[in-house]
Amino acid sequence: MADSLNCDLKSLSPLQLFEKVTEQGEKVRALKAGKAPKDEIDAAVRMLLSLKLSYKTTTGQDYQAGLPPKDLVLINNGTTKEEDEDLVDPWNVQTSNAKGVDYDKLIVRFGSSKIDTDLINRIERATGQKPHHFLRRGIFFSHRDMDQILDAYENKKSFYLYTGRGPSSQAMHVGHLIPFMFTKWLQEVFDVPLVIQLTDDEKYLWKDMTVEKAYEYAKENAKDIIACGFDINKTFIFSDLDYLGTSPGFYKNIVKVQKHVTFNQVKGIFGFTDSDCIGKISFPAIQAAPSFSSSFPQIFNGKENIQCLIPCAIDQDPYFRMTRDVAPRIGQPKPALLHSVFFPALQGAQTKMSASDPNSSIFLTDTPKQIKTKINKHAFSGGRDTIEEHRKYGGNCDVDVSFMYLTFFLEDDDRLEQLKQAYTSGELLTGELKKVLIETMQPLIAAHQERRKQVTDEVVKQFMTPRKLAFEF
Ligand code: TYM
Repeated sequence: MADSLNCDLKSLSPLQLFEKVTEQGEKVRALKAGKAPKDEIDAAVRMLLSLKLSYKTTTGQDYQAGLPPKDLVLINNGTTKEEDEDLVDPWNVQTSNAKGVDYDKLIVRFGSSKIDTDLINRIERATGQKPHHFLRRGIFFSHRDMDQILDAYENKKSFYLYTGRGPSSQAMHVGHLIPFMFTKWLQEVFDVPLVIQLTDDEKYLWKDMTVEKAYEYAKENAKDIIACGFDINKTFIFSDLDYLGTSPGFYKNIVKVQKHVTFNQVKGIFGFTDSDCIGKISFPAIQAAPSFSSSFPQIFNGKENIQCLIPCAIDQDPYFRMTRDVAPRIGQPKPALLHSVFFPALQGAQTKMSASDPNSSIFLTDTPKQIKTKINKHAFSGGRDTIEEHRKYGGNCDVDVSFMYLTFFLEDDDRLEQLKQAYTSGELLTGELKKVLIETMQPLIAAHQERRKQVTDEVVKQFMTPRKLAFEF
């Protein structure tokens, strides 16, 4: 079947192939929007990947939506995709590999740099703190210009942190915690200001929800973010729907970015089509603008050149490749980035978790019982089919979701290593490993819920009020 498809594709011209990929991309989007069965979506995505591969083999170029062959506008720092098997952008994370996305290949494709031991040691020397386990374990694995941030920091020049959340629903899942937990650590060890963007406008534009609902979710999600422990004197959280109308500095940066990016370029980066609404097409400028300190004159005393560091998962990188491309042309420093891998869905590392599927993840609202049931019932196991086989051949930690979750949340390095040895040798059974995960997650989520209860509407209002923070600029 695959062979006959390849044969058929070989007879097509580059332009015909281009049209086929575009058509299939639209089909995938329509299936997703219509909440089609997962099998159907997966089959359509596989077909899309295979078409893209044929396009690349035939033309020597990567497929870019909206850009027919020979009309590539390379904005992704001059790099092209080497390999088309993993699909990673702000809306899709899809791979056929049970171990998850091949992040080393992604670094090459996206043109970012690996966070290596030298960089981790340098962060340790600069801050005088043991590196966070997300760094030690390669969970934050890639960066852009982190060395520049450290150069500046070592020369007593400050910088600021920027991260965000698209409030698509009331409940956040544990994957969303990853960048926020890490950002909190960065704020503590570097002692710098932090801005957090809640893109309620983005969610209104992309999802079937009212403006009012999106704004309500922004404030609800702000409570979960605050419960991660951010310092109120050093953190400004803002909803786009609120802040945009009150800040000329922010809006000026948005229009500057809008003037320097063409429709062709956003089509190439984000896959927009002619039938996407113009709100979506101009939105990337709104996510770009907080990378520039002049968007927050109240915090930076009107200074325009304070460098920005953005911690996020790698899916958000397309926004910031665009931002970094535009920055020098509007006289602003390029933001630096720290990228994390994806926290896998309970069903396996092949896809991103979904807020619309309660069994795909552990949510910050889950009860201890729900956590236990979800892990026991849904966490994909790398164990063997029978106890006898498991004892004889051992389990596979590379694909075992319970073990993966423990690498994110079990801080004790020695314990994690012991569990790995015991599971791999067959001494520890899947049920026992799951029990360790349940006992790790239940208190962690309960403590989060306890802290969230303390976050009143008044506290949210304070975090979300534009104001000077505890820093002099
Ligand atoms: P959103 O709400 O999709 O995700 C919020 C943050 O969580 C990261 N993330 C994950 N990290 C690890 N494992 C996962 N499974 C996982 N799923 C999501 C995202 O990368 C993100 O860092 N458009 C953005 C909001 C935004 C933003 C930003 C994010 C605006 N400005 C600046 C990061 C930095 C969004 O919808 O994120």
